[in-house]
Amino acid sequence: MGRLDGEVAIVTGAGTGIGAATAVRFVKEGASVVLVGRRREKLEDTARATGQPDRVAIVPGDVRDQKTVDAAIAAAMKLGGLHVVVSNAAVSHPVAFPGADFETWRDIFDIIVVGAFRFCREAAKVMIANKTAGRLVNVTSIHGTQAEPRASAYGAAKAAVNQFSRALSVELAPHNIRVNAVAPGFVDTPMSVYNGENELESDWFNRFYVEARKIPMARAGRPEEIASAILFLASQESSYMTGHVMIVDGGLTVTF
Ligand SMILES: NC(=O)c1ccc[n+]([C@@H]2O[C@H](COP(=O)([O-])OP(=O)(O)OC[C@H]3O[C@@H](n4cnc5c(N)ncnc54)[C@H](O)[C@@H]3O)[C@@H](O)[C@H]2O)c1
Repeated sequence: MGRLDGEVAIVTGAGTGIGAATAVRFVKEGASVVLVGRRREKLEDTARATGQPDRVAIVPGDVRDQKTVDAAIAAAMKLGGLHVVVSNAAVSHPVAFPGADFETWRDIFDIIVVGAFRFCREAAKVMIANKTAGRLVNVTSIHGTQAEPRASAYGAAKAAVNQFSRALSVELAPHNIRVNAVAPGFVDTPMSVYNGENELESDWFNRFYVEARKIPMARAGRPEEIASAILFLASQESSYMTGHVMIVDGGLTVTF
């Protein structure tokens, strides 16, 4: 028996990385999944990877657009309802402060915060109307609590979504909707590649995070390891948890 048997989930940013791994895992656990993301061909790759095309729908679009959210909800209803939403889409390119222009800063902030807001809002409306004991899982980051240069937009947005998740958990608890977040550390996905270089394969990453054990587990995470945490919070295994930000970082943030 799967942990999500007969349920329907929406996963944003499902074409690559953590979102793709989550969608594949959810289907394995018995769910039908609506895949949302910018690039149709990447969503099709994920759909193929699930091996169950009849239990997958594809919605290409930008998470900032209301029409993307509406199309995703409609697709979920066609698959049989809406039980879980994973707001995972994000971009993270570095922006200098105060050097970067406002639009670049705003873009990163909006994809993360407006994207999560729109999907959580519409999902909550549907779940309340259908009396569904739903689960919202927002993928944030250790950047929501830890700081480094050139991550002001990304970090502020992730902190906002952490607090957004806590606030919603209180407001939606009377409706039996649980809201949690997963905050990954370094994970080997396309997000780690910047200007053609995978930072997780760089000398500085290896020296500082691996050899010097700044990450106590001395390695980056795999997308599937984050998907497991998301699954836990999306399933009944976490039935008494809400308003929690679960850090999954190989121990990185407990060191100094
Ligand atoms: N990889 C890491 O080290 C790491 C660390 C901490 C947190 N995270 C978080 O994990 C989540 C998944 O990232 P990932 O590592 O799998 O990277 P990724 O780049 O593979 O995945 C992000 C996905 O979001 C999609 N996306 C971006 N902007 C979008 C938009 N406007 N509308 C729709 N889709 C959009 C991208 O196309 C991509 O498929 C993100 O929220 C990210 O911030 C990643």
